[in-house]
Amino acid sequence: MGKKEKKQKQQQKTSRRGASYYRNEEDEEDYDFNNNYSQSLASSSLSDQEPEQDDSNEEEEKKEEEEDADNKTASKKGMPSKFLLYQQSVQSPKGDISYLQKFFLLYVGGRLPLHLQEDFCGTALLSTEWLRNDSRRTAVGVDLDLEALNWCIENNINKVGADGYSRISLFHGNVLQPLAAKLVNFESQEIINSIGSKDCKDDSESNEVKSAVQVGSSTSMDDMHMKRNVQLVARDIVCAFNYSCCCLHKRADLVLYFKHVLDVLSKKGGIFVMDLYGGTSSESKLRLQRRFPNFTYIWEQAEFDIIGRKTRISLHFHLQKQQRKLRHAFSYSWRLWSLPEIKDCLEEAGFQSVHFWIRQMPDTEANRRTEGSGAGREIKYEEVMTFEQVDAWNAYIVAVAN
Ligand SMILES: C[S@@+](CC[C@H](N)C(=O)[O-])C[C@H]1O[C@@H](n2cnc3c(N)ncnc32)[C@H](O)[C@@H]1O
Repeated sequence: MGKKEKKQKQQQKTSRRGASYYRNEEDEEDYDFNNNYSQSLASSSLSDQEPEQDDSNEEEEKKEEEEDADNKTASKKGMPSKFLLYQQSVQSPKGDISYLQKFFLLYVGGRLPLHLQEDFCGTALLSTEWLRNDSRRTAVGVDLDLEALNWCIENNINKVGADGYSRISLFHGNVLQPLAAKLVNFESQEIINSIGSKDCKDDSESNEVKSAVQVGSSTSMDDMHMKRNVQLVARDIVCAFNYSCCCLHKRADLVLYFKHVLDVLSKKGGIFVMDLYGGTSSESKLRLQRRFPNFTYIWEQAEFDIIGRKTRISLHFHLQKQQRKLRHAFSYSWRLWSLPEIKDCLEEAGFQSVHFWIRQMPDTEANRRTEGSGAGREIKYEEVMTFEQVDAWNAYIVAVAN
């Protein structure tokens, strides 16, 4: 098929799915943020994805790839941070927190959850939101990406209020080796103060969790802070959102990770909550776009390998005003776990019970043009024992510690 025919075919396909979103690819500069950090930030909840046009074809993709490479050194001046765009288009921390509270009250109860750990936290938006409503709350965030953690310190924690820094601990490291993670050193002494504060003492002596971590920062390593052991309060809730457990590809790693989670949960009762997506649309190539006032967010799903259940997800942002594209702003390799696989691993790690809360998502083939981040948010999750396969679903998996 010739290039022209291909383009025509593509445009017909586009029309079917919302022609008004067809963009002139040629008149924008590409801006590549693919900075190679492994399994970097992240996915969008399918709730946030709106099917619009599919403007991909092989030739255009190839051209875009070439443009990516050409623009690696492009000036960042005037461009919004990829982390800000990610937070605006992908995350909805308030919704997640209300479900976390609901799950805790339902499966543990008897006290308010105060201490949260957000694994694979990225910019720890959820953790900072957690701190807002109750000054007794504390949060711990863990991520491999130091750039995201530093961005959190400068852009998220500072919005929480004066005591925000003393109630959050961010660790740079691998969730599979939590004891080797390094506490990110905030500018001031706040973090050291927090170590001795009442908020960070476990009130159940018998189940005190010893998270021995090396204090320090990859950016400003301070001798005084190094090799200092920190004790953190036992967590009421540990969460891993935006499909982060798919970053772990081996079953043994998944079980090991779940054991680490269990170790930090309070012996008085605690829960682990993760999310997962699926459906027939999740196992094939897919490109979804969603338009926001100042940018378009694109979720690109590569071919799905049924042997390894692996795929590569890339997130791109097109900025209207700047006429730029942030291609591969985030990109990562995932193993798409099934719900029973996750359940088996959680039980093997020692969790007492596992609950599935699922909601059906808007059909990815539907020609709908909801703008902004509200798609599917009105659909509530429900606890289910069985659920018939659909085009797209999203799940919270809740594991109860004891
Ligand atoms: C899908 S993103 C999720 C970010 C955030 N939790 C959210 O809800 O948007 C996955 C994050 O996990 C981090 N990550 C991947 N593998 C990791 C590992 N083994 N240990 C710690 N963090 C990891 C990445 O750096 C990235 O920030």
